[in-house]
Amino acid sequence: MKLSYGRMFQDRLDKEHGLPRPLLAELAGRFPEVQDEVRQRRRHGEYGFYALADQAATVAGIRRFAEGVGQAFDHVLVLGIGGSALGARALLNALRPPAWNELDDERREYFPRITVLENVDPATVAAALRRIDPRRVLVNVVSKSGGTAETLAQYLVVRDWLERAVGPEAVPRHLVFTTDPVKGPLRAIAEREGIATLEVPPQVGGRFSVLSSVGLLPAALIGIDIEALLRGARHALDRAESDDLLANPAGLYAALLWAADARQGASIHVLMPYSDRLKEFSEWYRQLWAESLGKRVDRSGQVVLAGPTPLAAIGATDQHSQVQLFMEGPYDKVVTFIGVEDPGEDVTIPNRADLPEELAYLGGKTLGSLLRAEQDATAAALARMGRMSCSLTLPRLDAEVLGELVMFFQLATGYAGVWYGVDPFDQPGVELGKKLTFAAMGRKGYEWDRLPPEADNRDTV
Ligand code: PA5
Repeated sequence: MKLSYGRMFQDRLDKEHGLPRPLLAELAGRFPEVQDEVRQRRRHGEYGFYALADQAATVAGIRRFAEGVGQAFDHVLVLGIGGSALGARALLNALRPPAWNELDDERREYFPRITVLENVDPATVAAALRRIDPRRVLVNVVSKSGGTAETLAQYLVVRDWLERAVGPEAVPRHLVFTTDPVKGPLRAIAEREGIATLEVPPQVGGRFSVLSSVGLLPAALIGIDIEALLRGARHALDRAESDDLLANPAGLYAALLWAADARQGASIHVLMPYSDRLKEFSEWYRQLWAESLGKRVDRSGQVVLAGPTPLAAIGATDQHSQVQLFMEGPYDKVVTFIGVEDPGEDVTIPNRADLPEELAYLGGKTLGSLLRAEQDATAAALARMGRMSCSLTLPRLDAEVLGELVMFFQLATGYAGVWYGVDPFDQPGVELGKKLTFAAMGRKGYEWDRLPPEADNRDTV
C-alpha cells in the first residue's frame, strides 16, 4: 500500500491554495513528540487496538468455532450497531464476491449467506426475518456494552422468532454473543443460559474492534482468511514504529489531514475509493473519523468543539454527483482517493468495427483501465482547481491488503487524536443519546433524563 501526498501542497496545486511546502518540515519536527504521547498512553492502557495483530489464541478459537459449530448453519445473522456492525459489513463487501447472498452454494464454496442487521427500522427487520430460515441460522449478537437499546431490541425480537421455530431448548445452539468478558446484560444472559460467547477486549473500543472477534468471527464464518487480515494489520503497525514522519504513512496522513483542517480550514475529509467493494469501508471510516475526533473538549477539559467532518464518496459514480462541489465549492475539503492496481477481474470493452468515431477510444480498453483513468483525471482536475487531495494505492484487494488498510486508518485516527488534542477513544455524545433513549423508552433509573413532551413540540407547522 502506498500513500501519495504531493497534491496536498501549494507547489503541486495552483500555487495559491493548499499547504505550504515548508510546513512538512515543521510537522516532521513535531512528530517524535506525537509518537511519545502515543507510546506513553499505550503504557497506560489506551490505544488497545495496537495489540490486535497478535491474537493467536483468539484466532484459533474463532477457527475452531467456524469450522465446527459454524458449519452447521447456512445463514449467519449479525446483530449490532455502530462499531459493532460497520466493520463486519466492510469486510463482507470488500472480500466476498458482490451479491454474496444471491450466489448458489457452489459459487459461495458452501460458506453461509450473511445478513448484518444494524438499524431497528421495523420494515428492514421484518423483511430480513421473512427471508431467513430460522432453523438454519446462526445469530451473532455483538455488543461491547451488552446493553445498547437497538441491539438488545433486535436480539429480543430474533430470540422470539427463533423460539417459535425451533423451540426454547434449541435456541441457545443458534446463538453466539460477542461482548465484554465480564460485564453487561448480554454476558449475564449467556452465563445463565449456557450461550457460546466471544470476548471484545475491554481495552478496544467499538469502532476500533473490527480486527477483534467482533469482525473476525463473521469474517471466518463466511470464509475470509482472518490470519491474512491480521498479517496485513501487522505490516501497518510495523510501518508506524518510525519516528520519522516521512517513513510512517499513518502518522504522515494524520498530520497532513490535521494541518489541512487547522491551518487551511479544510475541515471536510472526503474518502473516495474507486472500487465498489470499498463502499462499506468508507462508511466504516466515516464512523471511525467522526466519532473519534468530534469532541467538545480537549484532553485538558477546555471546550474546543473539534473535529473534521468525514464524507463518503465513491468513484467514478460521484464524479457525476458530489465532485462538482469538491471542484468549485468552498476550499474546505481534502479528498483521499483509494485506487486498486489489480482489480482481480477485468472486463474488456468490445472493439466493434462499426463504432462511431466518438466512441472508438473506448474499444479494446478495459473497465478497470477506465476506472483508473477516471481517478487520475479527477485528481489532476482537483489539483488544477487548487484542491488538496492524496491517494492510497492498493496493489490488490485481498484480506492482507484490507487488514493493512484498516489498521492504517485506525493508526491515523489515533495520531489525529494527538494532533487535535482530543481523546479519540471516548464518545460522550453517543452515550448521552443512549441515555436519553433509555429515558424515552421508560427504562428504570433514567426518569430524570426524560424530556417533557412539549420540549420538542412547540415550533411545528
Ligand atoms: O464505536 C463505538 O464505541 C460505538 O459506535 C459503539 O460501537 C456502538 O454504540 C455500539 O455499542 P455496543 O457495542 O456497546 O453495543
